[in-house]
Amino acid sequence: MVFIKALEEKILKEGKVLPGNVLKVDGFLNHRIDVGFIMEMGKEISEIYKNEPVNKILTIESSGIAIAFAAATYMNVPVVFAKKNKSSNISDNLYSSPVTSFTHKNTYDAVVSKDFLGKDDRVIIVDDFLARGNALNGLIDIVNQAGAELLGCAIAIEKGFQNGGDALREQGVRVESLALIESMTEDSLTFRR
Ligand code: G4P
Repeated sequence: MVFIKALEEKILKEGKVLPGNVLKVDGFLNHRIDVGFIMEMGKEISEIYKNEPVNKILTIESSGIAIAFAAATYMNVPVVFAKKNKSSNISDNLYSSPVTSFTHKNTYDAVVSKDFLGKDDRVIIVDDFLARGNALNGLIDIVNQAGAELLGCAIAIEKGFQNGGDALREQGVRVESLALIESMTEDSLTFRR
């Protein structure tokens, strides 16, 4: 709770809302990394999932990696990050799922080597933002392709008004967002509590 309050305050103080419903938090998350703060974020994620038998964290390049690394440090598990493949150069040894990002206005294949994810894995997925949920859906698809068990997701900032998180919750996926934005405009931002 203390960390969540601190995250909300940091978003209000340092975040900038750009046209297109994009929240810019480059000062601590997406460009410069506030290492102490992101370590606290990782600790919070490890607390949320402390009763679950997690043995792997899955994320996607690039900004998810730092958060996943921080959580993994406290949970003592490895991190696997999906790579974004622009060519459809699919090899037999890869799980692959197509992702279209409205935010970045691009399409790519999220790919993970079969060497690093399999049916014995009990996974949480960690990422920086959840908007429409396309990236998260791609990662869930990869967990399913691997026959691994998905224990839940942990997201730093969810934009609740874009519905990706609620759609997953309705499907029974555990989605834990540290900051959940209810609404935002260039001069006001509110959280769902
Ligand atoms: P989308 O389908 O609406 O685009 O959203 P999705 O939830 O799939 O997120 C796609 C990517 O867009 C993610 O990047 C996410 O971090 C980024 N994103 C979505 N909304 C925002 C926002 O308001 N602010 C910022 N800063 N990023 C946002 P990613 O795949 O994790 O890649 P990367 O950007 O970390 O490299």
